[in-house]
Amino acid sequence: MYYSDEVIEEVRSKNDIVDVISGYVRLQKKGRDYFGLCPFHNEKSPSFSVSRQKQMYYCFGCGAGGNVFTFLMEYENYSFAEALKFLADRAGVELPRQEFSREAKERADTRAVLLEINKLAAQYYYVQLKNVQGEHALSYLKNRELSDDTIRAFGLGYSNKYSDDLYRYLKSRGYQTDMISKAGLISVDEKQSVYDKFWNRVMFPIMDVNSRVIGFGGRVMGDGKPKYLNSPETMIFDKSRNLYGLNRARSSKKPYFLLCEGYMDVISLHQAGFTNAVASLGTALTPGHASLIKRYVKEVYLTYDSDGAGTKAALRAVPILKEAGITARVIRMEPYKDPDEFIKNLGAEAFEERIGKARNGFMFALEILEQDYDLRSPEGKTDFMREAARRLTEFEEEIERNNYIEAVAQAYHVGYEDLRKLVVREAVRTGLASPVQRPKSGSVRSEGKKDGIATSQKILLTWLIEDESIFRQIEPYISPEDFSEGLLRTVAGLVYEQYGTGEVNPAKIMNHFTDEEEHREAASLFHTKIRELTTQREQEKALKETIIRVKSHSIDEAARNLAPSDMAGLQRLMNAKRELQDIQKLHISVN
Ligand code: GTP
Ligand code: MN
Repeated sequence: MYYSDEVIEEVRSKNDIVDVISGYVRLQKKGRDYFGLCPFHNEKSPSFSVSRQKQMYYCFGCGAGGNVFTFLMEYENYSFAEALKFLADRAGVELPRQEFSREAKERADTRAVLLEINKLAAQYYYVQLKNVQGEHALSYLKNRELSDDTIRAFGLGYSNKYSDDLYRYLKSRGYQTDMISKAGLISVDEKQSVYDKFWNRVMFPIMDVNSRVIGFGGRVMGDGKPKYLNSPETMIFDKSRNLYGLNRARSSKKPYFLLCEGYMDVISLHQAGFTNAVASLGTALTPGHASLIKRYVKEVYLTYDSDGAGTKAALRAVPILKEAGITARVIRMEPYKDPDEFIKNLGAEAFEERIGKARNGFMFALEILEQDYDLRSPEGKTDFMREAARRLTEFEEEIERNNYIEAVAQAYHVGYEDLRKLVVREAVRTGLASPVQRPKSGSVRSEGKKDGIATSQKILLTWLIEDESIFRQIEPYISPEDFSEGLLRTVAGLVYEQYGTGEVNPAKIMNHFTDEEEHREAASLFHTKIRELTTQREQEKALKETIIRVKSHSIDEAARNLAPSDMAGLQRLMNAKRELQDIQKLHISVN
């Protein structure tokens, strides 16, 4: 959903920051500003300040700060759109409804109906659990030590023993068979007979981050198969983009999530006070899950089952999380199977201790790897260390890699230097990461590359300043944003602006740079010699190469900085790539 700057500004200006924050933090006026205890870190004396004049907040203790949107995004874990919606409602601003195409409108309508159906189904199951028919289901849950509060909080329910109980209920509420089918709650056979998908199971409604029911998991009471039956994916139920418990975990104040395997694990953990527990929906962790998690926390503690399958799943999850920029740690449940059993047997305090003892994802993977080697024999240990070294080469950042080399050296009682040399050898052998070997020459090389691109940009800028006809040919393909931030982009911006209103006036551009160093550098742009000693054709070839180099570099930078959810940015990037192809076909004339 896209909102204009005007709407955003209207909403912001109609929500006074002091009023909004007062709803969450007790503020006291001191001089011009308001002070209170910072909600983002633990403190005893107030260092959290809110300025009515600036409409900003800032904490002198932890550095948190921003405007009214930032506050809600941080405090409530809202996305920007959610914060905007909340504040628009609060101030009575009506957000413009997006114009839908007919199909989009139909889809939106269907989705709304599917959400209604799922919500009704959840309510129905919940009522059944409290009915006579649900007695055994309720006692099953009680046997599993769930309290009434927990059952209510998670909306647990029961699906009756009849084969079309829910179907008849939903029909009676006016819903069409094909919609109920699209909601994944029934199946229809060749003879057009309709069956409830779930029957005689305890029901776990699955909610999205906004607490809307989007599907169900149903568990047999006892040892039947399958143990869990999950709703199929539907228009509103995407298993790789939702997490069980996220609607509650998002407002936990902990800076990390506990990621477990099962619904029961999540529920047990929440009941024991670990309200930051979530689980994937009967599938392995995906990059989609990781980027969803990243919206809320930067760290995840994996509490997967302690069996072989759980260990494997944890090993697979670690790199997926790392790829998304999330630090992963692994909590072991031994001697119990999963968090649910662990808590039942040892309690919340013992679990808290395990959290404290969680192992870093990389070290955990090494510990599992140990099992394939005989560390007591010299050959076994050498082979193991070689494999460890190979894995260490995968850290791209030198500081991080060295920290891990140190940790591994310590854990396996080998010398740091020896291990570092082994890592270098492995890197060379597998053709990876040569910078470890010669950090100096490595950094010189990347420095050189940076200089190279700066020179190209400088030359291009000089061409643009020198000759309006060249500027007009290049203008459709290159914009000031294609230049590196700083002096070059500023000058480019001014040059484009001046051509827009008349002609380039170097003196006026120079006025812009008061810092001596910058002044000198900017001036050099008006003095670079670009035309000497080459033929016209050579000049044209060189200019085109320069344009391509600058554009490619700009595309690479944009791609590197693109957030996975930035659709507009992606669109711009694709346009830029198309432009690059156009440039390759272009003839630029210099005369
Ligand atoms: P309990 O035995 O009730 O404690 O289950 P659990 O929460 O410990 O779950 P378990 O570790 O057995 O399984 C983890 C998750 O995998 C469950 O929450 C389900 O989402 C999914 N799952 C488990 N068994 C099945 C199955 O038979 N079929 C399908 N489709 N999913 C399953
Ligand atoms: Mn379990």
